[in-house]
Amino acid sequence: MLKRLMVLAVSLAVCGAAGAQRDMALESGLARTPPMGWNSWNHFAGRVTEQDVKDAADALVSTGMRDAGYVYVNIDDTWEGERDAQGVLHANNKFPDMKALGDYIHARGLKFGIYSSPGPRTCARYLASYGHEQQDADLYASWGVDYLKYDLCSFGTLMEAGMADHFDDPDYGNKMMKAAYLKMRTALDKTGRPIVFSLCQYGHDDVWTWGASVGGNLWRTTGDIQDNYASMTKIGFAQGPLAKYAGPGHWNDPDMLEVGNGGMTADEYRTHISLWALLAAPLLAGNDLSKMTPETKSILMNKAVIAIDQDKLGVQGDRVSQSGDLEVWSKPLGGGAVAVGLFNRGTSAAPMTLKLSDVGVKHAVHVSSLWEGANPIVANDEVSVSVPAHGVVLLRIEP
Ligand code: GLA
Repeated sequence: MLKRLMVLAVSLAVCGAAGAQRDMALESGLARTPPMGWNSWNHFAGRVTEQDVKDAADALVSTGMRDAGYVYVNIDDTWEGERDAQGVLHANNKFPDMKALGDYIHARGLKFGIYSSPGPRTCARYLASYGHEQQDADLYASWGVDYLKYDLCSFGTLMEAGMADHFDDPDYGNKMMKAAYLKMRTALDKTGRPIVFSLCQYGHDDVWTWGASVGGNLWRTTGDIQDNYASMTKIGFAQGPLAKYAGPGHWNDPDMLEVGNGGMTADEYRTHISLWALLAAPLLAGNDLSKMTPETKSILMNKAVIAIDQDKLGVQGDRVSQSGDLEVWSKPLGGGAVAVGLFNRGTSAAPMTLKLSDVGVKHAVHVSSLWEGANPIVANDEVSVSVPAHGVVLLRIEP
């Protein structure tokens, strides 16, 4: 009981004291558009090594991905080693010199991201930051880290162990989780280094309603994506109701990209990145960048699609209509333009007609199609296209 009260008192103190720093973090200019880069997990998972990360950094430069906007090089779980007598965490032997790795990444005009958990252990059971938050934040800053993904993992177990009878109390559980995230945001701010803060707790307790208030620049809204059409669409097409919570500095994160990992067709991967762009989602490639086919490159580096995601207005798109397997989504863009996705979730190609008035456009305008093929013709203020099975026609409509 005493332990429980102490934890609660600490949590509340943290919540109260950190307000000023939190605002500073949100106003620091970080993540004004959804973060773009690469993360090791979807392809390399627990096997990732320093060499894989260097190869990814090199490939971001040589393929043109960096210049297309993919700048973060994020090491996910399994880099962590042991703490020394002073409590300082060291990387394990897969990562012999983190400072040098950070320098390698920065020398290529890229930014360095890392991973931890507010609990004692990460999801892969490596050492995490519980009780060492400031020490770890200082360590990251000394390595030149620019981005932290903070994954709930064992924090839930910690809450259960200390407070079994409180764990199901949403109010209490919420406070603990918020305090844990705020504690790390405050520690990151104290280092003086601008560090993007990525909350990963799979959407628990409607994180979109409070993620920004604990200094999150992005927050995962779902469980883990898998490299198949069913998983990707189950996540992507469910994001509409969260649109109002996204904006410059703080984004909904429907998880990292699977483009290029081999489990979907090219049309399915085009659906994946088109939907993520309409959602103003972070675009973190999750494939092996050193071995990309021309098709994978063309999907990840379609500049017109990236421009939809990165549009300065920073508004997340939403569903306009749904009829069986056919869905229309739109996203308002700066300058009065609008992006529209015509999605076919069925297993054979289907004709679709968009009435411009359905997406708020009044007069005949210029319509460009952002994947291959000729731009569609506008007749009677309607656009008619054929949409491939599991595919998309993505349009940009200029006023
Ligand atoms: C969780 C996260 C994943 C990944 C793994 C690493 O499952 O949701 O994105 O970070 O942990 O262990």
